[in-house]
Amino acid sequence: MKLMVTNIVHDTPTVKIFTLKHPLRDTLPTPSAGAHVDVRLPDGKIRQYSLCGDPADDSIYQIAVRREDDGRGGSRWLHDNVELGSILHVSAPRNNFPLVAGAKRHLFIGGGIGITPFSAMVQAAKEAGEEFFIEYCVRSSVDAPLFAKLRAICGDKNLRVWAGDQIPKLRFDAASIGAPVEGMHIYCCGPNSLVNAVRKATSDWPESQVHFEVFAATLDENFKAEPFDMKIASTGEVIRVPANQSALDVLRARGFIVSSSCELGVCGSCECGYKDGTVIHRDSILGVSSRQDRMMLCVSRARVAVTVEL
Ligand code: FES
Repeated sequence: MKLMVTNIVHDTPTVKIFTLKHPLRDTLPTPSAGAHVDVRLPDGKIRQYSLCGDPADDSIYQIAVRREDDGRGGSRWLHDNVELGSILHVSAPRNNFPLVAGAKRHLFIGGGIGITPFSAMVQAAKEAGEEFFIEYCVRSSVDAPLFAKLRAICGDKNLRVWAGDQIPKLRFDAASIGAPVEGMHIYCCGPNSLVNAVRKATSDWPESQVHFEVFAATLDENFKAEPFDMKIASTGEVIRVPANQSALDVLRARGFIVSSSCELGVCGSCECGYKDGTVIHRDSILGVSSRQDRMMLCVSRARVAVTVEL
């Protein structure tokens, strides 16, 4: 969709909230809480941003963008070039991080700009009358995105802020999550350090009760890619994937039409089924049970050979 920027709010010194509206239509595809959209930049690159507006309002989308001076350039471009009336190319919402309906309690753990999906999720939880709590970790209390909005929704009772610039420094301890609680769901979005700490602290929780949203590729500097064979289940064709190319690239070069977006293993658009092989999963989305028969073609590989179901 080509959406028009109808409002820009300087939420913090480094974060702008952009409001997007269809120039001709009154409604947009309805997002569910926790959904994100892809924004296509002028150089063709795609960036994912969680929707942080009210999920019940389908007339607008809102995205919060932190300016990352040493990032990949997307946030800088949005901050420096987008103004009221600008047109952005935006996908329909996709949700890899949905609120679990009927949970007894939701615990949201957000770090920095990773708080954005929770803005919509707490509104949905509150409207459903479900119990929730946010642990909000920020480096600086003056640079806490969406803080005023979250406090208005949550009150002081359901929101705790861990600010690194407080004296003494306040630091969230993931070990405080404790033992598994039946019916409680944990959602975490933020920097890798926070995600890793929560993963470790919840390692004995059922996988179905712990949910992560990641927008940066998992760093594994020591990974050494090896070539492998990819058999197409429907035709029996076998295609060699060299060490310096992804399965996605090789399929495209052979004329297969495979959708993709982030090409970092974080958005889920290139997911496919597989069988008969040992896959080396390098994405940040699939849980342990899904990894038994699903893979992300942009980053995941196989040991020796795999059969993919496109
Ligand atoms: S393109 Fe986003 S996970 Fe593969």
